[in-house]
Amino acid sequence: MHHVVLSGVGHYLPTRVVTNRDLEAVLDTTDDWIASHTGIRERRFVTDDVHMSDMATVAARQALLHAEVEPADVDLVICASSTPDYLMPATAAMVAHRVGAVRAAAFDMEAACSGYAYALVVASQFIRSGMYRRVLVIGGDLLSRFLNWKDRATAILFGDGCGAAVLEQGTEPGIVAARLGADGSGAEHIVIPLGSRVPPVGDPSRHEVRMKGREVYRWAVGLVPRLVQETCADAGWSVADVDHLVLHQANLRILEAVAERLSVPMDKLVLNIDRMANTSAGTIAVALAEAAGQGRFAAGDKLLLAGFGSGLTWAGVGLRWTITRPLPQHDARWSEPAQP
Ligand code: UT7
Repeated sequence: MHHVVLSGVGHYLPTRVVTNRDLEAVLDTTDDWIASHTGIRERRFVTDDVHMSDMATVAARQALLHAEVEPADVDLVICASSTPDYLMPATAAMVAHRVGAVRAAAFDMEAACSGYAYALVVASQFIRSGMYRRVLVIGGDLLSRFLNWKDRATAILFGDGCGAAVLEQGTEPGIVAARLGADGSGAEHIVIPLGSRVPPVGDPSRHEVRMKGREVYRWAVGLVPRLVQETCADAGWSVADVDHLVLHQANLRILEAVAERLSVPMDKLVLNIDRMANTSAGTIAVALAEAAGQGRFAAGDKLLLAGFGSGLTWAGVGLRWTITRPLPQHDARWSEPAQP
């Protein structure tokens, strides 16, 4: 079995910032309610001309440069998103083409807010087994196109964003623990009703996000501390050993409750929910890249990633940080289309 290291990260943040005050104009809500119930102060929405593959291409180009991996050397591209460009083809194939990953296999994965952590685990299995050496993993969502602006309890929660990572065969351990789970009995808790059950005919608003917020909240606060503890145990770590907790950013109150139950100080949590809101499969991916860009992680640091959300699904990853290179600055040309 081969070691799997994370060798590069990247992200795409939409340019349009929408504050809670902006939402006061379109919803019966207040900045104070949103901030006190969720920790969110603003979110970013893409403009109409930006789609999932555009966000993913920028994030992927940054991650490849950070990893110093040539696109042609990528063996596989996995894109985790609930809001791909199309139901088919896979967004991953479009991104592989645009970044020049000409040899790569490509597929999309749907595990909602757990998608990025799930995809890291899936990717790592290909490398561990020796089938592939380099996998590009993308996690992101563009939920602004699926929000119900008549439902104030869900519309305020979500933003758009995307991150990416390169996983490679390494000489030292990187991903040291992985745990996946699902419980379809909660399938109706968070839904975007578009698919064979709800084909796209008639009123487009019937395809908007629906969520039973209270149920999800209670479920998450019960599940996530266990997931963190069990993933740490798999890694041979105690929870106190962990240097950085990178949890899905669904609601600051959930994160505070998890930290309290685990007796972890809040400054060990990587947070961006105040600026980004819940970007679903993007939260952990973006948080990793932002923190890497700020120089927050040192080689050898122990990171515990935990995703949870619709499905219901969950995924925990124990990761030793091994990157010492600085994150390359964004370049406007990264969003340009592929060369013919
Ligand atoms: O990534 C996917 C995972 N998703 C989650 O983890 C979401 C988990 N759930 C939550 O984060 C919370 O349940 C919400 C933030 C969605 C809602 O917070 P809550 O404290 O559970 O509120 P609630 O739905 O129980 O509603 C409490 C009150 C209600 O008013 P009444 O009936 O008590 O008069 C709501 O109508 O708050 C009202 N309310 C709002 N008021 C102002 C709900 N949303 C809003 C709003 N502005 N945006």
